Amino acid sequence: MAKIFTSEAQKMSVFQSSACLIIFVVILCLFPNTNASVETNTRKFEGYFPTISVDPSGGGNFTRIQAAIDSVPSYNKNWICIHIKAGTYREKIRIPYDRPLIYLKGEGQRRTTVTWDDHDSIETSSTFISYADNIVVRGIKFVNSYNQPPGKSVNPMQPAVAGNFQGDKYVFVDCGFIGYQDTLWDVQGRHYFKSCTIQGAVDFIFGSGQSIYEECIISVVAGSLGVPGFITAQGRSSPGEANGFVFKRCNISGDGKTFLGRPWRNFARVVFANSIMSEIVVPQGWDPWFSVGHEDKLTYDEHNCRGPGSDLSRRVKWANTATQNVLNRLISRKFIDNEGWIKDWMVA
Ligand SMILES: *[C@@H]1O[C@H](CO)[C@@H](O)[C@H](O)[C@H]1NC(C)=O
Ligand SMILES: *[C@@H]1O[C@H](CO)[C@@H](O)[C@H](O)[C@H]1NC(C)=O
Repeated sequence: MAKIFTSEAQKMSVFQSSACLIIFVVILCLFPNTNASVETNTRKFEGYFPTISVDPSGGGNFTRIQAAIDSVPSYNKNWICIHIKAGTYREKIRIPYDRPLIYLKGEGQRRTTVTWDDHDSIETSSTFISYADNIVVRGIKFVNSYNQPPGKSVNPMQPAVAGNFQGDKYVFVDCGFIGYQDTLWDVQGRHYFKSCTIQGAVDFIFGSGQSIYEECIISVVAGSLGVPGFITAQGRSSPGEANGFVFKRCNISGDGKTFLGRPWRNFARVVFANSIMSEIVVPQGWDPWFSVGHEDKLTYDEHNCRGPGSDLSRRVKWANTATQNVLNRLISRKFIDNEGWIKDWMVA
């Protein structure tokens, strides 16, 4: 008896499974979800996670961004979105080490602005400083207004940082970083900048971050300097360090003249790939700064760039010496991301 019953039950369950499978296949045919990955990726940005809002006019949970950040629990374990409504926020903001997994969602780099004017110290002047891991920012412009507008400010030129990033796994999309000297301190950690604008004149993208800047506008405002400026001052200090700056499909333009970079440390590594360079880039391209005599330790390369500033014929002899293998490795997104943490945030 028991045996037959079991067998009947088995038959029944086989029948049910088949029925389920058939229904499932029918559903799949009726609603082919070919955009599955697009939808998932959009979802991540649109936020199926708790959201708190900041609105300068009082319509949100907070009127100041810092108050919203401070409300995130210490050692936060799940993504939390802080929706920052359009407006100009006059405050300096700081994400401490113990507040990871924060998504700062602005309303576009032309609509949501955070501005402050601290200066002198690269350690403390930044308008936005972040220490935690896993931070995503979209649609916000960060300004250090100390030397703004470029060339018209009555203040003497000083380091005046707009962004200072010290944690790992950061994604910035549609963000702006506006300054003059030392605009963006890409201190350390793996960072991905997509469709951002970075503006400055001297060493305005600097540090030891392991970063890709993709489809970004590099806006040089060196016209008022009287001498060429410097886009990058990368800070790799030994051959074992993984960091470096890679610019892919970026647009380098502006006023005045500029070097692509000068080494802040002796093993600096910077690549410009598939980018467009206006005539503002000086023919020699790179300046050795304190690395005179050991330029062979630097990795300064340009790959498939175009535009009048991209002519390699008069570049310093010690640039563009990386092998194709090294270049391929640096230009690949795998340079900063083997796990797929960037893809989660991209709208395909
Ligand atoms: C934020 O404001 C909304 C709308 O008033 C409210 O429902 C929500 O509970 C608030 N959240 C927090 C964390 O205060
Ligand atoms: C690069 O940026 C400059 C200044 O914004 C603009 O005039 C030019 O059209 C851009 N080039 C490309 C190829 O997008």
